Amino acid sequence: MDLPEEYKKGFKDFLGIKIDLSKRPLIPRPETEYWVGWFINQNHKKGMKCLDLFSGSGCVGVAILKNIKGSICHFGEIDDSFLEQIKINCSDIDSDRYKIIKTDIFSGIDEKYDYILANPPYVAKNRISEVGKDVLEYEPHIALFSGDDGMEIINKFISEVKNYLNDGGYAIMEFDPQQKDKIKEGEFYKDQFGEYRFVIIKK
Ligand SMILES: C[S@@+](CC[C@H](N)C(=O)[O-])C[C@H]1O[C@@H](n2cnc3c(N)ncnc32)[C@H](O)[C@@H]1O
Repeated sequence: MDLPEEYKKGFKDFLGIKIDLSKRPLIPRPETEYWVGWFINQNHKKGMKCLDLFSGSGCVGVAILKNIKGSICHFGEIDDSFLEQIKINCSDIDSDRYKIIKTDIFSGIDEKYDYILANPPYVAKNRISEVGKDVLEYEPHIALFSGDDGMEIINKFISEVKNYLNDGGYAIMEFDPQQKDKIKEGEFYKDQFGEYRFVIIKK
């Protein structure tokens, strides 16, 4: 089996931005690119403050910082080498516009945000046989799996997220289309392939 092309090249294009992958975080997916593009095109208040939780490469927050003038974005991630990765991907952004936080879901977060953007690990361990061999061999398992049904981190995230949102703000979270009926609140949206892929939870 061959190393994925993106790891060989060392980067992936995400909404026109070159995202460095030298620390081998999850390779950003087109479905994620789709909803982040959707989010960027909404009306946002000036100087809005976001949290990109489960940041990995940092692609989500970096796309916001580079596309929304004056925005502030904090990054939350559990893995030390991916915290380094985010730093690399923020190297040409003003340091007063971002903060990189080591956190286990919300454990390290002590501020509120206008928007929280989240692409949590959501692959069900009991569906491991459906995951591509190259993904399993080369991509970080910490970025993929979350309990037998893939809902462990999603459930914790949803139960706490409103504590970290400003009034009038919202969270936007990616999930697997098969999980839609297990997510009890929010407005559901489809991706570019016609599959339910992200949910908006308003405060
Ligand atoms: C699906 S990847 C998303 C990466 C990137 N945001 C993207 O969209 O390509 C999930 C990320 O969450 C991180 N992660 C896993 N468990 C976590 C936890 N309990 N708290 C914070 N981050 C976690 C993983 O290390 C991984 O980088």
